[in-house]
Amino acid sequence: MKIGILGGTGKEGSGLAYRWALKGHEVVIGSRDAARAAAGAAELNQLLAGKAEVRGAGNPEAAQATVVVLTVPYAAQVATADSVAQQLQGKILVDVTVPLAPPKVDRVQLPNGESAVVALQRRLGAAVKVVSAFQNVSATHLKDPAHEVDCDVLVCGDDADARETVVGLAQDAGLRAWHAGALANSIAAEALTSVLIAINKRYKVAGSGIRITGVPRG
Ligand SMILES: NC(=O)c1ccc[n+]([C@@H]2O[C@H](COP(=O)([O-])OP(=O)(O)OC[C@H]3O[C@@H](n4cnc5c(N)ncnc54)[C@H](OP(=O)(O)O)[C@@H]3O)[C@@H](O)[C@H]2O)c1
Repeated sequence: MKIGILGGTGKEGSGLAYRWALKGHEVVIGSRDAARAAAGAAELNQLLAGKAEVRGAGNPEAAQATVVVLTVPYAAQVATADSVAQQLQGKILVDVTVPLAPPKVDRVQLPNGESAVVALQRRLGAAVKVVSAFQNVSATHLKDPAHEVDCDVLVCGDDADARETVVGLAQDAGLRAWHAGALANSIAAEALTSVLIAINKRYKVAGSGIRITGVPRG
């Protein structure tokens, strides 16, 4: 699959890019600055050591992919999506955004008490299939493929086929993923991130996560 990652120069996006490239996907990491994207891609390609290759590009070019992933800080979520709104028409947009409100990122503070991903879906309109995922997976786990990530992925979205595609992509990244219902349910995943940050602080760990229990592994 051709995957474009907006803000793919950052911590979460580059980790996902690395894992998807290893799985054989065609990955373009996007940036506001094409030169920064190229440098980020070169760094990832060193880590990939010839097993796969990623490419860097400006965000608008990265958004030409089949599936587009948004991994930018909350403050940049709307502006970044708006800047590629045309390219997103008819596509799946995987939004990883957590609406953290610095400096108290270990406290749930959802803007207007609602999901940031739902707000983005409303803004972009129904022609963009927004799916929410990966909010609870710490970037610290992603760049070592030998390391089993001890965190499940909640995938929320209103389009069942789009959700299925993203569950598959999470599995391709080596993660256990769940259909977690409608996009409205994303509010729970977004809020959980602050809970995990509080746990990280209290127990002095880099990346606590979540596990769904009571469902047989299949
Ligand atoms: N880090 C984690 O462990 C983690 C885990 C789960 C979810 N998340 C969520 O995933 C998203 C990305 O997190 P991250 O840690 O990868 O973030 P990050 O490294 O701080 O930033 C990601 C990229 O966003 C772009 N960016 C930064 N500020 C911007 C602005 N004002 N306008 C437009 N683009 C901007 C930058 O790319 P360019 O400068 O190259 O354009 C940057 O490399 C956040 O919403 C975060 O809450 C993160």
